[in-house]
Amino acid sequence: MKRVDDFRLRFGKQELVPIVIGGMGVDISTADLALEAARLGGVGHISDAMVKTVADRRFNTKFVKDKLKQYKYNVENPDKSVVQFDLGQLAEATCLHVGKTMEAKRGSGMIFVNCMEKLTMNAPKETLRVRLASALDAGVDGITLAAGLHLGSFALIEDHPRFRDAKLGIIVSSLRALQLFLRKSARTNRLPDYVVVEGPLAGGHLGFGMDWAQYDLATIVAEIRAWLVAEKLDIPLIPAGGIFTGSDAVSFLENGAAAVQVATRFTVTEECGLPAKVQQHYFKASEADIVVNQVSPTGYPMRMLTSSPAIGSGIRPNCEAYGYLLDAHGSCAYITAYNREVAAHPGAKKVSVMDKTCLCTHMRNFDCWTCGHYTYRLKDTSRKDEDGNYRILSAEHVFHDYQYSTDNKIALPD
Ligand SMILES: Cc1cc2nc3c(=O)[nH]c(=O)nc-3n(C[C@H](O)[C@H](O)[C@H](O)COP(=O)(O)O)c2cc1C
Repeated sequence: MKRVDDFRLRFGKQELVPIVIGGMGVDISTADLALEAARLGGVGHISDAMVKTVADRRFNTKFVKDKLKQYKYNVENPDKSVVQFDLGQLAEATCLHVGKTMEAKRGSGMIFVNCMEKLTMNAPKETLRVRLASALDAGVDGITLAAGLHLGSFALIEDHPRFRDAKLGIIVSSLRALQLFLRKSARTNRLPDYVVVEGPLAGGHLGFGMDWAQYDLATIVAEIRAWLVAEKLDIPLIPAGGIFTGSDAVSFLENGAAAVQVATRFTVTEECGLPAKVQQHYFKASEADIVVNQVSPTGYPMRMLTSSPAIGSGIRPNCEAYGYLLDAHGSCAYITAYNREVAAHPGAKKVSVMDKTCLCTHMRNFDCWTCGHYTYRLKDTSRKDEDGNYRILSAEHVFHDYQYSTDNKIALPD
């Protein structure tokens, strides 16, 4: 019977344990978590989502405070088009977050940055270029293009000196998305070094509509693999979404996957950024407590715990401090929904907004509890203490469980 450890992810001459811990913004996949993955010989991700906030938390910088100070005069104004990111500061924050993580890296693995296109930041192209280039400047091993089709992303950095040496990959949820990306990027004469195929059971935003339940990861992976073989394209495929045990992973590796990307099981580890109290909500969740809804202003469905404080919260938009989801015209679907409720309830001190959420603020505060479909199985991965709480795991424990387990077994902590 095979184990994950019988396989290797190959990038040129470099061989890695074929376990990739997926990016989880905002700082849920912390530098500490990514560093553990690299130390253990796999691939870890940090995320550049809301990087200024993350840098402030990690390094005591004042990026967010400074931005709020600059735009405070605009907080009552529904038009947020004046709220622009300072590109120099964006570069600085990214270099700090990524650079300090790379400096701390030990072991034979790699650290990638997860870069979501949907963070349009009131100037999509300019900010994305800075985010990608700064991560490369700071020495990241690779970049995973996420949450978007990224049709122009390779072109944005094709002149960067590391464009051909860093590992660059993309997350897709269909063959069509991959074909589009390859067609649009062909001019740069560079294929992605890997493709993460994310199915409908993943955490975070989904690359499917509300009919997500009709799709199946193994079927999508097989379709993409068959097409790559027919086109004689040799690109490592990394399935993601609902791979909960080492045996789940082995079945993909035996069918030609180069590695697997996993995340949910690491949400209840010490190295994960979620506060310990929130981690207990993840442990205790039942299947009925997990929904896919449309409260994210990005327009993508998102999976989360129904008890997330973000759902229904009617806080004032915080774009002057954050503003990561402002589109090219300074709009965000939450601002529209919030203003509608305020207009419908004149004089009310507080409003509730059910259809959208202020994702920046709530992700920043760990109040949007996004999670994978199998979160309800996390209780089977640990021990319950006498106080009714579950024991938080180490990332090493979970990583090794994926790496060495057989027979769908899950090792419990000592
Ligand atoms: C809490 C959480 C947050 C996530 N955030 C992101 C994100 O910011 N960007 C992204 O591309 N994927 C995100 N994902 C998806 C993961 O990177 C990964 O591909 C997927 O969840 C793997 O499936 P699994 O959780 O069933 O193991 C997130 C997943 C979780 C569980």
